[in-house]
Order: sequence, then C-alpha cells, then structure tokens
Amino acid sequence: SLKVVIIGGGSSYTPEIIEGFINRYQSFPCTEIVLVDIPAGLEKLKIITALAKRMIKRVKLPIQLSMTLDRRSALKGADFVTTQIRVGGLAAREKDERIPLSHGVIGQETNGAGGIFKAFRTIPILLDIAKDMHELCPNAWLINFTNPAGIVTEALIQHSPHKRVIGVCNIPFNMRNSIAEMLGCTAAEIEIEFVGMNHFVFGKRVWQNGIDRTQEVIKRLIQNGDQYSPANIVSIGWEQTFIESLQLIPNPYHQYYFQTDEVLAKSLQAFKENGTRAEIVQKIEAELFQKYQDQELDHKPVELEKRGGAYYSDAACNLMNSIYNDTGDIQTVNIINQGAIPDLPATAVIEANARISRKGPQPLAIGPLPRSIRGMIQQMKAFEELVVEAAISGNYQVAYQAMIMNPLIPSDQKAKTILDEMLEAHRKDLPQF
Ligand code: NAD
Ligand code: G6P
Ligand code: MN
Repeated sequence: SLKVVIIGGGSSYTPEIIEGFINRYQSFPCTEIVLVDIPAGLEKLKIITALAKRMIKRVKLPIQLSMTLDRRSALKGADFVTTQIRVGGLAAREKDERIPLSHGVIGQETNGAGGIFKAFRTIPILLDIAKDMHELCPNAWLINFTNPAGIVTEALIQHSPHKRVIGVCNIPFNMRNSIAEMLGCTAAEIEIEFVGMNHFVFGKRVWQNGIDRTQEVIKRLIQNGDQYSPANIVSIGWEQTFIESLQLIPNPYHQYYFQTDEVLAKSLQAFKENGTRAEIVQKIEAELFQKYQDQELDHKPVELEKRGGAYYSDAACNLMNSIYNDTGDIQTVNIINQGAIPDLPATAVIEANARISRKGPQPLAIGPLPRSIRGMIQQMKAFEELVVEAAISGNYQVAYQAMIMNPLIPSDQKAKTILDEMLEAHRKDLPQF
C-alpha cells in the first residue's frame, strides 16, 4: 500500500496534484489519498473531494480517495504527507499585502513584512503537524509547500522531532522549463546549478546535456528580458548591466529586492486598479469553485493556470516518485545545507539541487558563495533565523529585529509602525504573541 495525505486538501490547487498522481500511477501506484482540512474549509473540501473522485473514476484507477477533518486519524500509516495550508485564509493574506503598501512599503505574500507575518501564523501549526507525524507516521516524508516555504522548512528542520522534511517551490521548476524553451530543448536536457534560498535563489550555471550554456542564457535574458514570472508577480525585466555584472540568473522575486522602487510603484498602481493579489485570487478561486461543482467536470481545468503556483504538483510528485523508486536523480528542493555552501551554517535550510533517493535528498556541493551576493545571502539567512525564533517564542524584540533586518523594510520607524499594526490586525491567528 502507498498512502498520501494532503493537508489543506480544500485548496483550489488540489485537482492539479490529483492529476499528478493519476499521470504517475504506473511508477507511483498510490492506493490511498486522504484530503484533510479544517471546519472553515469544509465546503471547499467537499467540492474538491467530489471532483477528485470523478477524476479518478474517469481513468478507472484503484485509488481510494477520502476526506476528513480529523488530521490525526488521517496521518496513521501515511507514507507521504503534503502540506498546502493558509492559516487565516486569504483574508489574512489581504492584510499582509495591504498594510505594508498603505505605508509605502512592498506588501507581498512571501517577501518583506507580509512574508514575516505569514511565517508567524504558519510555523506553529506546521510544527504541530510534524509532531503528529513523528508520533503517528514516523517514517513518512513531509513535503511542504506552505509559504514562506523556505522559512517554514527551516523552522521544521531546526525545531521538529520529525526530520523527514523537504520544502518545495515551483520557481526552480519553472525556471528550468523557461530556459529550456529559450534554448529550444526539453527541460530534461537542462540542469541549472542553483545557489541561495527559497524565493531568493539564483541560477549560477546552466548546463544543456552536460555543456555549459550559461553565457548563452545570460545573452538571451538581456535580449528578450525573459522573466519566467509566475502569474502572481510583476514582470519588469532586467537591466543589461545587472545581468552582465552579476553573471547570475535571478529568479522573478529578486525584482522586489533589486528594483524595489519600480516594483513598489507598479504594485501601488495595481493595488489602486484591482486591489491586492489576495483579492484577485479570491475572484479566481470563486470562478474555479464554480467550475469544480459542474458534475460533468472530471479533469483539471486550464483556468487553474491563472494561479502563481501552477505546476507546483510536478515538483511535489516528481519528488515523491523519486523517493519511492530510489531513483537517484537530481531535483531542486529546500533541505539542510550540510556544507554544500560552506559560508552558511551547516544546519541551515537552502534551496539547492539534491540527489533524491529512498534515504531522502542529498545536496550536491555548491561551494563558496559568489562574492557579489555573499553578504546578502548571509543576511537573508540570519533574517530567516530571526523570523523562526520570533514565530516560536512570540518575542516582540526578536520580531522587531526580523523586521529591521529585512531589506524590504526601509527604516526603524516603518518597521515599528507596520509590526504593531500587523500584530494587532492578525491577533486571532497569533496566540504566541
Ligand atoms: P487556500 O487558502 O486555498 O488554503 C488551502 C486550504 O488550507 C484551505 O482549504 C484551508 O481551509 C486549509 N487550512 C487552513 N489552515 C489549515 C490547517 N491548520 N489544517 C488543515 N487545513 C488548513 O490556499 P492556497 O492558495 O491553496 O495555498 C495553500 C498554501 O500553499 C499557501 O501557503 C500558499 O502560499 C502555498 N503555495 C506554495 C507554493 C510553492 O511554490 N511553495 C505554490 C502554491 C501555493
Ligand atoms: C508562486 C510561488 C508560490 C506562491 C504563488 C502565489 O508560484 O512560487 O510560492 O504561492 O506563486 O500564487 P497566487 O496565485 O496565490 O498569487
Ligand atoms: Mn514558491
């Protein structure tokens, strides 16, 4: 038997991961899938469960799928657990985005003050889930997407008794696809050497069938300004000098850090016209759930591609497939450094290429950080450690330190104002403070 538990099963993304399991059934024959949610998500969970059942019925596979609000009973006997939850729902995300923007500061789901507060709400819950897993399914792998995925994984690795934890994101996967497109080949032929952390990862070198194509990719990035941006974030494009000088391939989230003024202006404009991304996502979700209720629908609708996390399930399913089959292939995941980057703590979580086997991911050596980004990567890791400590302890001083050490928060004044306002706005989801 092969049992997968999806926590946050009522997510509108779930049909994508169900399709991922269906498509991989020959190599990853899961016998049981359990969708878990909380009472507030029950209506969505019912709709998703019914759709997932129709999808499985269409292909006539012997997968038992069920739903429950009882997480602990679901976890018994699990082999893989995926977590895709949003503590406080989109209403909380709306505050994460709007409050900083109202002070003229980047307001974003996973970066800056918004990301800090999403981590504060999420980390205690994920630690609880991991604790349950340690007790009820100690050999199972926890595959976490819950954002900020890198910081949440850092918290779990440092503080949970359950060590079989891997963080995943669609960004490295999407970068590989779009570079393949750029070079006119398949993604399977491309390997990107990554360096950094989740949503702060750079491509250091690009290989096509073992041949170094980095310079060609850099040239094309300058020419076409290809941004491979997901649907949720701006796409401005890179300055020639920025790319030429760094000799690194940035990820779309780097725009927030290196083009802060332009991104802020664009975000404020978008906010005036359409509200926050959370409000846009609310509308996309309403349309999706309308579709999902159509009893004739028995596949993943294309409209799901309007979500920034589209294709996240490929990253997750490929990972589970490789662990299950002990394949030894290379995938990009959030895992313990273990010396891969000597100038970060050996126990820190990094987003890196790793060889995936039954024993889990083993990071490939990366080597010292390029000097140009060394300071900033070390700062971002120290910042993440502060966020984790504050999320667990509820210590105001540490939370404040995290705010002032974040590069997107411009002054002590704004740090304090935004911190206080957000602590108040999120009070019900922050019992530790
Ligand atoms: P969503 O608002 O649809 O939430 C998913 C489900 O989680 C909801 O049905 C909700 O009721 C449920 N939930 C909330 N708290 C829960 C808890 N304690 N236990 C069980 N279920 C709970 O959110 P979404 O848009 O589907 O995103 C889910 C998460 O995945 C977010 O954190 C998002 O940032 C993240 N995400 C990450 C990536 C990535 O690249 N890492 C990609 C897509 C989404
Ligand atoms: C990207 C990120 C995810 C994030 C998503 C947001 O793909 O990698 O971590 O959750 O976008 O998309 P949304 O549609 O919710 O704005
Ligand atoms: Mn991501």
